[in-house]
Amino acid sequence: MKTAIYPGSFDPITNGHLDVIKRSAKVFDEVIVLVLVNPNKKGLFDIDERVKLIEKVIGSLKNVKVQSYKGLLVNFMREQKARVIIKGLRAISDFEYEFQMALMNNKLDPNVETFFMMTRAEYSYLSSSSVRQVAEFGGCIEGLVPDEIINEVLSKSKTFK
Ligand code: PNS
Repeated sequence: MKTAIYPGSFDPITNGHLDVIKRSAKVFDEVIVLVLVNPNKKGLFDIDERVKLIEKVIGSLKNVKVQSYKGLLVNFMREQKARVIIKGLRAISDFEYEFQMALMNNKLDPNVETFFMMTRAEYSYLSSSSVRQVAEFGGCIEGLVPDEIINEVLSKSKTFK
């Protein structure tokens, strides 16, 4: 069985992430969406909340599951006996950061390969950080995150201020 790990901060999951998950689920037997800690990013939702939001939106995708992990991605992959990392690429601006991470992960474990999936054009401008900012200042986040989680993102953003 070919398992792919789709790691990220997902704070919160966006429609761009969901699109990558759905497309990956058509290519791999199993996709594990893995919520990890990115030490460079300040969080809005805690890790368990992020997992719950993702679970809410992947309901009908039978071969997708969600987990979280506190540690190195390659260690999680070893535990799962998985070799493939999926990452979404939006623009050239993502490339340097993603390239560096892919090389680092491959250095830490040469069995691990990163597969990049180009974002759909309609989501190429979309990021969790821009969603957080729009929500914080009371803007409309319809179409940016899945409908099922809009209210949770808006209310969390209000209390976070
Ligand atoms: O959605 P993000 O924030 O771009 O995802 C980055 C993430 C969480 C995948 C990355 O920070 C990560 O892998 N964190 C876990 C620690 C790790 O394994 N780091 C090694 C790569 S430098």
